[in-house]
Amino acid sequence: MAILVTGGTGYIASHTILEFLNRGYDVIALDNLSNSKRESLRRVNRLTGRQCPLEVADLLDSESLNNLFDKYSIDGVIHFAGKKAVGESVEKPLLYYRTNVEGTLNLVNIMQQHGVNQIVFSSSCTVYGDPENVPVDESFPVSPTNPYGHSKAMVEQILRDLCVSDSSFGASLLRYFNPAGAHPSGEIGEDPLGTPGNLMPYLLKVATGKLPELRIFGDDYPTVDGTGVRDYIHVLDLANGHLLAWEKISDEGGIQTYNLGTGKGYSVHQLISATEKVSGKAIPFTITDRRPGDVAETWADPSRAIRELGWRAERGLEEICRDSWNWQQKNPEGYPDP
Ligand code: WQD
Repeated sequence: MAILVTGGTGYIASHTILEFLNRGYDVIALDNLSNSKRESLRRVNRLTGRQCPLEVADLLDSESLNNLFDKYSIDGVIHFAGKKAVGESVEKPLLYYRTNVEGTLNLVNIMQQHGVNQIVFSSSCTVYGDPENVPVDESFPVSPTNPYGHSKAMVEQILRDLCVSDSSFGASLLRYFNPAGAHPSGEIGEDPLGTPGNLMPYLLKVATGKLPELRIFGDDYPTVDGTGVRDYIHVLDLANGHLLAWEKISDEGGIQTYNLGTGKGYSVHQLISATEKVSGKAIPFTITDRRPGDVAETWADPSRAIRELGWRAERGLEEICRDSWNWQQKNPEGYPDP
């Protein structure tokens, strides 16, 4: 029996596959390679000394998906595949609903047809929209403010309803805060295509001189220093969260929702300082207008995951920046093209 990981060559998925392989699980990666490269998985196999096969297909291709479930004996699914850029989702909402919602509907339909009834879903703190206050726990209202967040909230609802209609189905909905960092080997890491949208990869490109300066999207927020505050969580802590969520679902079934965050918030200026410290590089910046859709501050209350999964983030901001810088230095152009 094996675990199918959709979006398997992506940033969080590749680090999660490494964690599962190291724990002795058999894993199959599925990806359409639209936003990542197969090199990430090659390196995971090298790092672990194990073999995770890659199946290249799209979740919207029912025939390929069906053939995959016929080919392998699949225990359950860890579902990362999807589009994840807030700004792009505002410009292209139909793309986001088709990829994230219709793609997931296709996946769970075929899972049910093959008697596969266990899923861990990659959700996001974006489902909370602009929270009334912080820290954010799972009881906060789901009130997304962009199509990306709506698409994640819709998939969560689909999985909740499925678990009610089919008591044999088990799901764990993991709401990530801000994933960052890289495996300490520097072999795998975040490799965004084109100009990075997220803060950490952008910072790293400025530190290496590949981009001239950081634009800080507003410093007039009601926060510690006026810049946006977020909960940055190391990607390996996220990977461990998936393992514990998988094991809980395997044991108990049902459906649970967990915030995966450190419970601490850091501002843009604090991230700049931490990156300058580990890299020894100055990071020039300018203050620009606020980015539409941004919230002032958000960070997690992770106490439910701590209590029910026995999980907590072990790595802090300095380790996130150190591992990110190590990855960037060793892979200034990201993963090589095939
Ligand atoms: C962080 C802070 C920006 C870039 C996104 C997704 C969310 C989740 C995590 C998947 C904010 C500021 C950023 C820049 C800046 N992804 N910033 N200049 O928007 O909190 O969350 O990634 O689940 O769904 O929305 O992350 O890294 O874009 O921004 O000043 O060039 O850095 O304003 O305060 P965000 P981010």
